[in-house]
Amino acid sequence: MDKFVVNGGKPLHGEVTISGAKNAAVAIIPAAILAEGPCIIENVPNISDVALLTRILHDMGASVRMINKSTLEINAKHLTSQPVPYDLARNMRASYYFLGALLGRFSKASVPMPGGCDFGVRPIDQHIKGFKLLGAQVELENGMVNVSAERLTGTQIYFDVVSVGATINVMLAAVKARGMTVIENAAKEPHIVDLANFLNSMGADIMGAGTDVIKIRGVEKLRPTTYTIIPDQIEAGTYMVLAAATKGDVMIKNVIPKHLEPITDKLMKMGVEVEEFDDSLHVRRPGELTGVNIRTMPHPGFPTDMQPQMTVLLALANNTSIVTEGVWDNRFRYVDELRRMGANIQVDGKVAVVEGKGSLTAAPVKATDLRAGAAMLIAALAANGESQIEDIYHIERGYEEIEEKLRALGADIRKISTPDKHMKKAL
Ligand code: EPZ
Repeated sequence: MDKFVVNGGKPLHGEVTISGAKNAAVAIIPAAILAEGPCIIENVPNISDVALLTRILHDMGASVRMINKSTLEINAKHLTSQPVPYDLARNMRASYYFLGALLGRFSKASVPMPGGCDFGVRPIDQHIKGFKLLGAQVELENGMVNVSAERLTGTQIYFDVVSVGATINVMLAAVKARGMTVIENAAKEPHIVDLANFLNSMGADIMGAGTDVIKIRGVEKLRPTTYTIIPDQIEAGTYMVLAAATKGDVMIKNVIPKHLEPITDKLMKMGVEVEEFDDSLHVRRPGELTGVNIRTMPHPGFPTDMQPQMTVLLALANNTSIVTEGVWDNRFRYVDELRRMGANIQVDGKVAVVEGKGSLTAAPVKATDLRAGAAMLIAALAANGESQIEDIYHIERGYEEIEEKLRALGADIRKISTPDKHMKKAL
């Protein structure tokens, strides 16, 4: 298993360029199967989640090739609707986007029940509700979700909870359905808008993405397209926090500052300087950090995928802050690891009380999931001395070339491989 060895306590300086958004890419790549011809997708992040999705597509008969480091061509003309391979898909949450995409293209799909980061129960009842209202039958059998319909028909769907995944899956399924589908209480994340833009560039008729109500008028056919994925909001936010945690001074390039406003606002309240340009941000920490209270919420609220990283920063502040997790039931598992580094954090259900102590101490820790792994890296880079972070395969699921990017900012980080006694799964 690979781990990172970090010698922390050095301010990060310089420039970093943000990659394409993971959570947009993992929706857009399956969506490419809705066109029966070659789609070219640019600004694709080179991360293991993307590698896995393209492998699934390849195994299902699509032709997939990298045109260059970040441009992918997917031609799903000869794809057949067959079960999505169980061993590849079951550990990856986003593989469930094949449900909506295959249903949209072939009126049937068979996909393993999704896994992914462990934040407690992760139901898919809202996805199923949407598919059923569109006229599909849904069965759960031997670990697979089987969905099929004679013909999907547009309808009105009200989501009981705001769900990114259910909104995306219903958009994918409804795009070629007969008539109009209206999604109410839709998720509004930037990657929802990006997927809608991608589908519209293929000839879909989707209005309202980015608001609570999305209207999808079904079309007969979708054509091949060329599309550029938006920059990753969470990768950018992670480097913002890294600059702040290490008392650094970093220019973060290729960002959409509007997407980062909830993070920028909290950082500025903590005493971090953030200067906005058209597509970059300059983040600098001039002095001590002041704690703030944070409540995560669906977009445009503070993103849950930045909660662990911000909790590290709050642990480096000089007073007490309260972090309330408003999206997931159990997203504080990483706190035990942070305690090894001297953090004083009490968790009660969805609330964490962070008693900032101004610093953290180096320690051996592990990444318990993707963003928790990023949080451990931030903590290790802020703490004086050598920390080791195990289970970094979680981090590599969602951060392109993180070791290289950090080293270019002056971080002392290296990856080492250790024999794997237990043969843990890579995803
Ligand atoms: C997406 O997960 C992201 N993953 C997550 O990012 C992110 O944390 C989450 O949205 C919230 O922003 C991808 O885009 C691949 P949800 P998703 O459906 O779609 C409940 C990362 O670190 N719910 O919006 O699985 C659910 O339990 C990852 O990049 C239902 O009750 O999240 C949760 O409490 C981790 N029934 C809430 O809704 C459902 O049918 C939001 O979940 C679906 C969801």
